[in-house]
Amino acid sequence: MNIGIDKISFHVPNYYLDMTDLANARETDPNKFHIGLGQDQMAIIPETQDIVTLGASAAAKILTDEDKKNIDMVIVGTESSTDFSKSASVIIHELLEIQPFARSFEIKHACYGGTAALQQANDYVTLHPDRKVLVIAADIAKYGLNTGGEPTQGCGAVAMLVTKNPHLLAFNNDSVFYSEDVYDFWRPAGHDYPLVDGHMSNQVYIDSFTRIWEQNKKVNHTDSSDYAALTFHLPYTKMGRKALRAIFSEMSEEEQQRLEARYDEAVVYSRQVGNLYTGSLYLGLMSLLDNGDLAAGDRIGLFSYGSGAVSEFFSMTLMDDYKTYLSIEENQALLSSRQQLSIDEYEAMFNKKLPTDGETYTFSDYTAYAINKISGDIRYYNK
Ligand code: COA
Repeated sequence: MNIGIDKISFHVPNYYLDMTDLANARETDPNKFHIGLGQDQMAIIPETQDIVTLGASAAAKILTDEDKKNIDMVIVGTESSTDFSKSASVIIHELLEIQPFARSFEIKHACYGGTAALQQANDYVTLHPDRKVLVIAADIAKYGLNTGGEPTQGCGAVAMLVTKNPHLLAFNNDSVFYSEDVYDFWRPAGHDYPLVDGHMSNQVYIDSFTRIWEQNKKVNHTDSSDYAALTFHLPYTKMGRKALRAIFSEMSEEEQQRLEARYDEAVVYSRQVGNLYTGSLYLGLMSLLDNGDLAAGDRIGLFSYGSGAVSEFFSMTLMDDYKTYLSIEENQALLSSRQQLSIDEYEAMFNKKLPTDGETYTFSDYTAYAINKISGDIRYYNK
């Protein structure tokens, strides 16, 4: 019996900044962002939306009433939580009217949390094959205005429904893990933005990938020719490409071109969104499925990386007729219908924060699941 991703969807807010505008405002050559980092646009979120808004919006697109009756767990992987205690999952569970006898909780380890959630879902459904698990990877990547990390910001959520006999992808249960206690990126309590050594994080990412790739070859007896595509965590789209190229020396030129062509298909969406932290790997997976032409039975390798640092490499196999279950036009329309912001509008939106004085304030953001009121430090969401 196969266990895997039955349905997948993503959501981003309705606003974006063009990277040429950011480059001009920061007196930088736009090619540094478009070519050097591989980013064309960056998703921007208003203060009336958060990971609950993003996660609920992504999940609402794929869940039927029947699914909601059969979901036993709602797991949110995130590093953008607004609460140290209560999870976003329990709020999303209620907003989506999932049956009440369910577990809801958050999982954290930087950008790795979505993968931890997905693998936990795999374990649960393996033991309870008639039940389903909703996994959400939702984040808001903010480094601050005029910082080195600013062009690698972004936000969004990916929702995945894990079931038996999935329509899209089945787990191959071949995960290889790697953990190393390093400080390349971390956000101590009280800090609005992460502390980051960007160049160190690039290096730890590449080293983690090459180590885990060697381990994967040993443990799973595979090499690059066993994978129709390799997908990567995408803090910016050049990052995964650098990691992929780090193993090129073991491949023929033809093999390098094959994997790089698949890589280009996997970064179409992220070039327009930027970093979603936990969701980035899975937005890349969606981009590959929507923009590539893979065949049923193809094996896709996934490299998940969370600074600090935890990584995992695993593979999934494409199911028969998977193409029938994609929402390519809807996904493209979500990105193309967004409103472009000027640099002034972006900076104003970036600086706006919800009040934290415990008083009552109401808001007129009528987007689905946006915050319409805050009172006593409780956020109230549109349904
Ligand atoms: N045209 C084309 N490419 C250009 C360019 C230009 N005019 N100017 C610079 N570049 C290239 C550089 O050569 C470099 O490419 P390379 O990485 O292949 O060598 C790339 O653009 C980035 O330039 P760099 O000088 O390294 O940028 P930076 O000092 O501003 O830092 C990050 C880039 C990613 C480290 C920074 O944005 C950051 O800290 N981001 C947050 C952390 C992060 O995303 N880490 C990733 C791992 S989780």
